[in-house]
Amino acid sequence: MLYKQIEHQLQQLVSEQYPDWPAHEVVIRVCPTAKFGDYQCTSLMGLVKRKGGNPREVATQIVDQLAERETPCAHIEVAGPGFINFRLNPQALEAALNDRQASHRYFVDPASPSRTVVVDFSSPNVAKPMHVGHIRSTNLGDCLCRILRFLGHKVISDNHIGDWGTQFGKLIVGWKRGIEDTALEGDALGEMERLYREINQLCNADPGILESARAELLKLQQGDPLNLEIWRQMIALSRAQFDEIYSRLGVRFDETLGESHYNDRLDALAGEMEGKGLAERSQGALLVFFPDEPELKDHPAMIQKSNGAANYTTTDLATLEYREKRWSPDEIIYVTDGRQQLHFKQLFSIYRRWTKGKGPKLVHTWFGSILGQDGKPFKTRSGDVVRLTNLLNEAEERARRIVEEKPELDEEQKAEIARIVGIGAVKYADLLPNRQSDYVFDWDTMLALKGNTCPYLQYAYTRIQSVFRKAGMTWESVASRAQTHLQAEEELRLGKHLVNFPLVLQLVMDEYRPNYLCSYLFELAGLLSRFYENCPILKADEPIRDARLVLIGHAGRTIRKGLELLGIEVSDVM
Ligand code: ARG
Repeated sequence: MLYKQIEHQLQQLVSEQYPDWPAHEVVIRVCPTAKFGDYQCTSLMGLVKRKGGNPREVATQIVDQLAERETPCAHIEVAGPGFINFRLNPQALEAALNDRQASHRYFVDPASPSRTVVVDFSSPNVAKPMHVGHIRSTNLGDCLCRILRFLGHKVISDNHIGDWGTQFGKLIVGWKRGIEDTALEGDALGEMERLYREINQLCNADPGILESARAELLKLQQGDPLNLEIWRQMIALSRAQFDEIYSRLGVRFDETLGESHYNDRLDALAGEMEGKGLAERSQGALLVFFPDEPELKDHPAMIQKSNGAANYTTTDLATLEYREKRWSPDEIIYVTDGRQQLHFKQLFSIYRRWTKGKGPKLVHTWFGSILGQDGKPFKTRSGDVVRLTNLLNEAEERARRIVEEKPELDEEQKAEIARIVGIGAVKYADLLPNRQSDYVFDWDTMLALKGNTCPYLQYAYTRIQSVFRKAGMTWESVASRAQTHLQAEEELRLGKHLVNFPLVLQLVMDEYRPNYLCSYLFELAGLLSRFYENCPILKADEPIRDARLVLIGHAGRTIRKGLELLGIEVSDVM
């Protein structure tokens, strides 16, 4: 792509002139102010400062040499204390668009080298319904998987479900005392949640029941066949309900190994940690201390309780070890809410010490909470947590009210559009804010046809499809006989934005922030509106008419692809 080409030339010159400098650090980005240029390089300045030298002088010398080479730029200049601004040559831009007209990779070149990345996300706990809090991990994780795959990396998505733990003692007591089969068939997770609440109350009131919960848990841990059977049934029922939600969200996992998968390894792992001097006994428990890390100094991690039981950290260490052995990943990304930051800092630090610094890059991609209109955690009117199934149902119902008035659509179309618009709106509203901030859940904003919303982007796509229908053409038919030709200012700006698609995907992956892709698509839709206002398509004469159809065809494909990478569908009619 054009920006890569420029970046490459720049790096080449730097390494020729300064062989011992890390030339790969010199990168270019979209210029924040369009009037100064299309791209900008600020990283050379930082490098010169570090290495010693005058940034402006070095930049000027490099730009002088670039001027002698063939670049896709019409204009290159040094600015400020030593930035470099680049203005694209319209012919080069046009050629880049035309070159990729038939490509299903759009303007994205496959990553080289391709990396192996494990993404650990969603990971609900079994025997409890998924609630609104699970949507962020599910959306974010799925979106990162989609982008990584599209960029050409090998991705393993692993749903690390919480399918083991002390709650099963109580659940088994409840199950044996009388599970209601009919309720279980109707809403298994709701029934299990009810059971758990009931037994929990009984346990608080009656030490005898608490004792029997402990006994059932021990029997389960020791492999009692009946308890194992009940436990398996609870997991199967939970997974069936999770899968229903995942299929509505269009999310899939390569693996759902779950915490219980690592049970057999936990004791030996704790023993190994102690044997290697990484963990110490303290009042019977096994702890890891972090004396040299200011942030963790006062927060030792427990990897075995005094009763010998392993915990969340132990399981995560075993999981890391397993992933390393099975896939030798280059990177593991964990997507959970911000409250688990301490856990992952501890985990990563223990693992680094254990492997003496070897192993994959470990990343905790955390996010904030979803709030209600009152600024408090988002709840139902009666104060309960919002179940994800109900939330998705409501999204579809509300979207349905919007399409209801369209006489040209039949029932089936209306239902399908309501599904695409409703689910898309919830997902987009969730991916749009910076992931680390809390956001307020608001149906009216997310379903609005104006502003930075999903329906607005979906509509931008539909409008392009309708222009094609009116022209009696498809993308394939026009692309087989014409190419784009950029003349008007609006056409040039649209074209420039389109070729920057790979740049934004890279930005998303640099910081694990899909909201950059949302902003990119919103900007694209805005450029399209300005283009429609100033550049007639169907009323234009050939060859301009075809050239403009090709241009909006590129835009439509990019919107569709971008939304697909966010996990959102589009509709040809709306
Ligand atoms: N089940 C956990 C929870 O609900 C999330 C698990 C995240 N993944 C991990 N490897 N710890 O909080």
